[in-house]
Amino acid sequence: MRVLFVASECVPLIKTGGLADVVGALPKALADLGMDVRVLLPGYPAVLDGLRRSKFVGDRADLFGVKAQVVSGRTAEGLEVLAIDAPGLFDRPGNPYLDEAGEDHADNWQRFGALSWLGASMARRGIDGWQPDVVHAHDWQAGLVPVYLGTADQAPPTLFTIHNMAFQGLFPATCRSGLGLPESGFDADGYEYWGQVGFLKAGLFYADHLTTVSPTYARELLEDDFGMGLEGVLRARQESLSGIVNGIDTDVWDPESDPLIAKRYSRRAPAGKRHCKAALVEEFGLEASDGPLFAVISRLTLQKGLDLLLELVPHIVARGGRLAVVGSGDAELEAGFRAAAEAHPGAVGVFIGYDEALAHRIQAGADAIVVPSRFEPCGLTQLCGLRYGTLPIVSRTGGLADTVIDANPAALASGCATGFQFAPVDRNGLRTALDRAFDAHAEGATWRRMVRNALGQAVGWEASAAAYAALYRDLVTDRIAP
Ligand code: ADP
Ligand code: GLC
Repeated sequence: MRVLFVASECVPLIKTGGLADVVGALPKALADLGMDVRVLLPGYPAVLDGLRRSKFVGDRADLFGVKAQVVSGRTAEGLEVLAIDAPGLFDRPGNPYLDEAGEDHADNWQRFGALSWLGASMARRGIDGWQPDVVHAHDWQAGLVPVYLGTADQAPPTLFTIHNMAFQGLFPATCRSGLGLPESGFDADGYEYWGQVGFLKAGLFYADHLTTVSPTYARELLEDDFGMGLEGVLRARQESLSGIVNGIDTDVWDPESDPLIAKRYSRRAPAGKRHCKAALVEEFGLEASDGPLFAVISRLTLQKGLDLLLELVPHIVARGGRLAVVGSGDAELEAGFRAAAEAHPGAVGVFIGYDEALAHRIQAGADAIVVPSRFEPCGLTQLCGLRYGTLPIVSRTGGLADTVIDANPAALASGCATGFQFAPVDRNGLRTALDRAFDAHAEGATWRRMVRNALGQAVGWEASAAAYAALYRDLVTDRIAP
């Protein structure tokens, strides 16, 4: 089975969020099941620079007026990547979506239209003698793949995965001629969305099957609050929508072998975690305390609900807790966390920015990771938390609800609790969950038991990769014998 991934990010080459983690790790797990996966990415400088043994493949292409050629290469871990070398589209400062001033690149419609167009072209004609059996497109940036692929007999089936409904890739109607989109699809039954071209809408409407990254989010997406305007489109496709929970790369996230942490530890020998906590307390300039050390590793946006945590900082400090934060995003939240650190020196430490190695040190050193998201398709930091025995305190939504076992009386009695859930997602809900964590931590034995449970959770990709593999097989079988 040959699978072409089409996506805009992939660890270790380029990352702004969890999408990159998934696109980097899932192909490895699929390879363990005998699948041959290649990932088509935009050729941002970091992507082209990060590839080994790269060579040009295929013909030169004209992507809506911009010259391009495909580069084939491998990451250090051996992941097969196809990158679009088109400096006119991808070689520029800023991040994949935003310029240095934080504004969307004005030609994002063209940049990701080009990604989708090339993905469809490869799917139809193959590349360098390699012909995919299935195309797996991720998020709005790859949403036009099934539109360009059309219904040609030889077109492989498409799977479209929604990682986040909040980012929909909406562009002015005028871009459709520049993108060579079929006029007939500019309709509610097509890629049109309230008079605009909707890249995500296109994926939802035209792909053969849809998945999202947890079963709970798959159900939530059919509701008005979570569907973000596209719930009607999804309801019409309910039969073709399933939820497969994300995993994490358990080679990269492994307290037993992690080279980035102060001392290694495991479920059998957990003592090193204390050492990691001491190192983190020192790194963040915190004063020692018997209370729990809470952590945040996150984009600072409305989705993540961290404004609620900010309001509760005085409460955490009053109860003898400590807080370590690494994050970046909305200016107001960044300022809020900086101010909290200034107001509570020795109790709250904040690093505004993006730092992958620091994320590892925090997962290893903290007692609990707080993820109070208003919505969360899956979430990965709570999975890393479990892997490092750092108990997740999470809102009961999306993948957070599916991956953390709440310390309710039944779960505590049967000894399977791994964290704390709360609902509704408001200040009181979070406060109650934090208080339950304080109490369990003070009890000692309860906390240690939960840490052992967390360290024993299966958070890798094995089960979910098998679910994707089964889906690819079904899609191919249906195509051959509808
Ligand atoms: P989302 O994709 O919505 O941002 P996820 O939890 O799925 O949320 O994935 C976020 C990923 O980005 C995780 O791998 C997390 O460790 C990482 N991350 C987020 N913010 C930071 C940061 N400031 N520094 C380092 N890593 C971060
Ligand atoms: C999105 C979601 C996050 C999910 C990630 C990877 O960024 O916000 O919940 O874990 O995609 O699927």
